Amino acid sequence: MGITVMGGRSDIIIVGGGIIGLSVALELKMRGASVTVLSRHSQQAAGYVGAGMLAPQAERIPPSPLRDLALRSRSLYEGWTQKLEAITGSDAGYWPCGILAPVYDRPESVELPQTPDSPAIWLEGAELDEHQPGLSSEVAGAWWFPKDAQVDNRRHLMRSLLSAARELGVDVQEGVAVKDIVTDGKAVQNVATDGGAIAGYHYILAAGAWCGQLLSIPVRPIKGQMLSLRVPDSVPKLPVRQVLFGSGIYIVPRRDGLIVLGATVEDVGFDNSLTPAGIDTLLSEAMRLYPGLRDFPIQEFWWGFRPTTPDELPILGPSPFPNLTLATGHHRNGILLAPATAEIVADWVYSGRADPLIGHFRWNRFSKS
Ligand code: GLY
Repeated sequence: MGITVMGGRSDIIIVGGGIIGLSVALELKMRGASVTVLSRHSQQAAGYVGAGMLAPQAERIPPSPLRDLALRSRSLYEGWTQKLEAITGSDAGYWPCGILAPVYDRPESVELPQTPDSPAIWLEGAELDEHQPGLSSEVAGAWWFPKDAQVDNRRHLMRSLLSAARELGVDVQEGVAVKDIVTDGKAVQNVATDGGAIAGYHYILAAGAWCGQLLSIPVRPIKGQMLSLRVPDSVPKLPVRQVLFGSGIYIVPRRDGLIVLGATVEDVGFDNSLTPAGIDTLLSEAMRLYPGLRDFPIQEFWWGFRPTTPDELPILGPSPFPNLTLATGHHRNGILLAPATAEIVADWVYSGRADPLIGHFRWNRFSKS
């Protein structure tokens, strides 16, 4: 397609300043486009909320285009965060710590799909105790996924993405609410915001769980409640050595002693509250899996909304309008999928190149024919 700079306005208007919007903006900017990001309230974006697990294997994504996309994105992460660090001069929060997935009932088969790039190793007994001391005596064994990883999204990655985007000249406008995508029935004319209309040459909708309010696509919020603890000074640092991915709970240790616990999965719309039942479930499951956490001080509680489609797969690429591209619906995997999404969407918007995976994530796969 190729991009022509339109006098005084950005080539590309991205609706959404979360992890997907910023990642796509940066990728397009690095290719030479001028880009504006409109962000209503970035702290509500799922990228600021999640625990930052990079976990295609621990999430047990079955062999599928989504798994291909997820493994590709995981393999991009190290280089992508190094690039952010080179631009900003600060830590982007990537930690290739691996993920351990303990279970309470020993499965009949401990073989999982794996490749040399994605080993899945079953551990039990003394081997498991040595790998991760302190797990509950109820734990029957665990899979060790050494290539899964994590990124400290809340304190590092999102800040890093925002400053890299600004550093390279992306116009990120925070506090601008898009009210409507205005079309003439054939193409997008502009986006109506609370500060007036903004027009560009091409538009990208990356507004996460809120996309369904702007376009007729089936993206809905799936709420997650979360909390964090802190390792007390009396405990040797990092008693939890890597991410623990249990049943109904994950325990994500940061290198400085913060521990993130997540997350509930609730189909309750945009319900803005923490609930006793939600927090009780997280704390009970966390203490069951790693009893030593019970005396660790609680640091913070929060919640947010995953952008979810009926088949729980993202929507990437074309839309009903030729000058509008979609990048949303990443459900549980937005942080993981950001670098691959940025490449695929930038290829599509900037060069008209359709990645072989893009067809699996079409917007119109839900229409009845
Ligand atoms: N990525 C894990 C979650 O969405 O809870």
